[in-house]
Amino acid sequence: MSKLSLQTLEKTASNYHELMVPALFVARAEQVADQANIKPGDRVLDVACGTGVLTRVAAERTGDNELAAGLDVNPGMLAVAENLSPGIDWREGAAEELPWDDHSFDVVVSQFGLMFFEDKPRALREMNRVLKSGGRLVVAVFDSLENNPGYKAMVEILADIAGEDVAQALRFPFSLGDPDELKSLCKKSGLDSAEIITHNNNVRFPDARTMVLADVKGWFPLAGITLDDQEIDEAADRLTSTLSEFIMDDGSVEFPMPAHFISATKT
Ligand SMILES: C[S@@+](CC[C@H](N)C(=O)[O-])C[C@H]1O[C@@H](n2cnc3c(N)ncnc32)[C@H](O)[C@@H]1O
Repeated sequence: MSKLSLQTLEKTASNYHELMVPALFVARAEQVADQANIKPGDRVLDVACGTGVLTRVAAERTGDNELAAGLDVNPGMLAVAENLSPGIDWREGAAEELPWDDHSFDVVVSQFGLMFFEDKPRALREMNRVLKSGGRLVVAVFDSLENNPGYKAMVEILADIAGEDVAQALRFPFSLGDPDELKSLCKKSGLDSAEIITHNNNVRFPDARTMVLADVKGWFPLAGITLDDQEIDEAADRLTSTLSEFIMDDGSVEFPMPAHFISATKT
């Protein structure tokens, strides 16, 4: 992260917010907030908040921006988040070392960050530590690629066009897709009573090219990956034909992208 300038981090975060968040994360944020039963007056923390899509939903439900906090390791994401919602407590930091006292929050949520954490049990223990007794924890991760025809196709196409390293980077966000593994991760992290709940939502991009650009501009720069215009065009064309059964009349691409939610209550 530190190798990139703040300007590059912010530009990438703003692309992420524009191209990826509406397609993949807006509806999920509502679903995570429902699962966590966020109520007026709750104090809520969103870990790995990105540009803050879930933090903002949490703030709305608590009824007061000052009751919501969002933490992320990427200052570019936080700059976009702060610009959109200045009243929320945005913090730069690592999930593995949360800068709050024990028993600070009624609810801790996190969507699609856990797979990137270097020390996952430590991060989950931290989330539990900052929860009050009776507090609710909901952590969402993607199901595996086998259950996700859109990104399965994208991985295969990019392996061909851009090489195995790029395909491997794109496989990584789907690495916590096995519910049994998630369950044992929870046990290892002291969340013995956690449930794993699977939600089978569809996601929708306006077209296949936007789906490619969401990766290429929204996070590939963080992984040092670049694709030229010709490679982007080829990927978009091949995605359109491979995913023909998922292309709607208006050209949008809509496919199943299931997710698992870890759901626990602190005893
Ligand atoms: C796929 S994004 C999801 C962001 C956001 N939750 C959303 O729904 O848009 C993953 C996020 O995890 C953050 N992240 C990765 N490792 C982290 C860590 N160890 N601690 C905190 N945030 C982390 C990244 O900076 C990124 O913003």
